[in-house]
Amino acid sequence: MLRQFFLYLSRSKKAQRLLLSAPGAQRAARQFIAGETLAQAVAVVRGLEARGMLATLDHLGENVTSLEQAAAARDEYLEVLREIVRSKLPATISVKLSQLGMDLSRDKSDDDCRRNLRALVECAQQIGDFVEVDMEGSAYTDRTLHIITDLHQSFSAVGAVIQAYLYRSENDVKELIRHGVSIRLCKGAYNEPSTLAIPHKTEVDVNFLRLMRMLVESRLYHRIATHDPSIVEATRRTAGELGLSKDSFEFQMLYGVNRALQQQLVEDGYRLRIYVPFGRAWFPYFMRRLAERPANAWFALRSVLR
Ligand code: FDA
Repeated sequence: MLRQFFLYLSRSKKAQRLLLSAPGAQRAARQFIAGETLAQAVAVVRGLEARGMLATLDHLGENVTSLEQAAAARDEYLEVLREIVRSKLPATISVKLSQLGMDLSRDKSDDDCRRNLRALVECAQQIGDFVEVDMEGSAYTDRTLHIITDLHQSFSAVGAVIQAYLYRSENDVKELIRHGVSIRLCKGAYNEPSTLAIPHKTEVDVNFLRLMRMLVESRLYHRIATHDPSIVEATRRTAGELGLSKDSFEFQMLYGVNRALQQQLVEDGYRLRIYVPFGRAWFPYFMRRLAERPANAWFALRSVLR
């Protein structure tokens, strides 16, 4: 119930205006967001690096409303890539196709969005970096995977995200592996109908484990994105049983979530990449984090009231 409420808020412009004016809202969001500027994000990545962790930078902003905004988002990401080179940051970038204009293409061929993503992937490939394309709601799944597999034929520096809650994901994993595309596997964070997504958490977890095994068996470099200790443990076990070295895959976690487990993985010699969001448009991202864990909502409320 509370989950649906926060997911509703994440899409509501009115709620956004109201909550952004609350004095402590930004303070509450800082648990999960590096800050509003690239400089603040760089400082966070440096701190993670000192603790032996990698990063992926998400310049927040989704569902832009004009192609000019989409082009501006692309340019901001190009600046992030330049900063990664300049400051030698151990970081990739994570982008959302709705931010690069997926909803705005004039002819439904997604040409503008493709061009924007291509510019980022081309740049990443040149500098030896990588673009992780986040997965949004199910309305975007087909088009997102299509664009990625197309682009991947020319550039290896682009990867996809698969959500374990979608019934379709097993087929998508097979198809991506067939194309040699690196996958970030997560549970899924959007509000989906039960016709498309597994409604019960325990069954999502079972599907996650099944998909994780497919990734490990593929021997491609993949990214296991979860804070769930039992899934982390199962991944470690499966990789060990199949003789995978610790550097042939990575775990990923969100900035500010389950720091004890993050530290433990690094101490045990695993590669861990932290998803570091930054930027002024932090509201929908913050609401999705609250939706995942109602306990966070009480923490946030306390910060707002303080
Ligand atoms: P689960 O929700 O079952 O949580 C397991 C445990 O982790 C909890 O018991 C709690 O201890 C801790 N935890 C989880 N979330 C927490 C939170 N918000 N605050 C505090 N503790 C928390 N989704 C998507 O749809 N598209 C995408 O592209 C991505 N990308 C992505 C990248 C990375 C690096 C990560 C880690 C996650 C995503 N996600 C995502 C989000 C993902 O789908 C999912 O919603 C969250 O990771 C929460 O699911 P868990 O696997 O952590 O398990």
